Amino acid sequence: MTAAITFNDVCVTIQGTQIIHDVSGLFPKGKITTLIGPSGAGKTTILKLCNGLLSATSGAIMYNGQPLTSYDPIALRRCVGMALQGAPMIKGSVYDNLKLPKQLQGDKLLEADAIVALTQVGLDAKMIHKKAHDLSGGQRQKLSIARTLINPTDVLLLDEITSALDPYAVSEIEQLIIDMKNRGVTIIWITHNLAQAQRIGDYMWLMQRGELIESGPIELLETSNNERVQQFMRGELV
Ligand SMILES: Nc1ncnc2c1ncn2[C@@H]1O[C@H](COP(=O)(O)OP(=O)(O)O)[C@@H](O)[C@H]1O
Ligand SMILES: [Mg+2]
Repeated sequence: MTAAITFNDVCVTIQGTQIIHDVSGLFPKGKITTLIGPSGAGKTTILKLCNGLLSATSGAIMYNGQPLTSYDPIALRRCVGMALQGAPMIKGSVYDNLKLPKQLQGDKLLEADAIVALTQVGLDAKMIHKKAHDLSGGQRQKLSIARTLINPTDVLLLDEITSALDPYAVSEIEQLIIDMKNRGVTIIWITHNLAQAQRIGDYMWLMQRGELIESGPIELLETSNNERVQQFMRGELV
């Protein structure tokens, strides 16, 4: 197993409060790791560390064997993409939203290429000139995934992207992400849904209060002797 991203003794202190405590672990390349744990455990903070939105106070994060700090921040964002809960959109059309990441890089996006991306995520080509704000929650989430397809990255960070969706949209999005994994993308996926974590994850990280309490193959959730993992599985970890 090759690591895409490795954490070595990572600590984060913000304004005198330590929010990440000595985290060491890895995210395997080309696999889906589900990142789980109670609210406030530090999951979103871990994602922000992975794409350089936040820096470790101490310890090291390695990406493809090189310290994250040795990468140019803009180059890093091109390799490590992120999709957020609620799929924030800019005012304007679906097309405007798809064009945005290209425009930020000084590039253009042909309408034909935008339509290819829409079709890949199961959205109708006719939607391209609709206002993004008129889309349903599921359609917006698909649009935000279409945006990541247009600027393909090696690592994709997902923060609770399906929490507001109906079960049908959830399974469509899970399939899209599995397709991306099958094309070699490394996925780190925060979910508060345990069934989803077990369904889609190859590997898992379980966090509580800024600590990594267990990580490894997804089966560990069922087999670990760690007391806190067992509490989590019983819905008793807070
Ligand atoms: N910028 C920040 N300043 C101060 N505290 C923060 C900041 N970001 C996160 N925290 C705190 O760190 C902890 C972990 O937050 P977060 O990573 O968002 O948890 P999760 O995503 O698991 O719910 C929380 O207690 C939160 O209040
Ligand atoms: Mg969070």
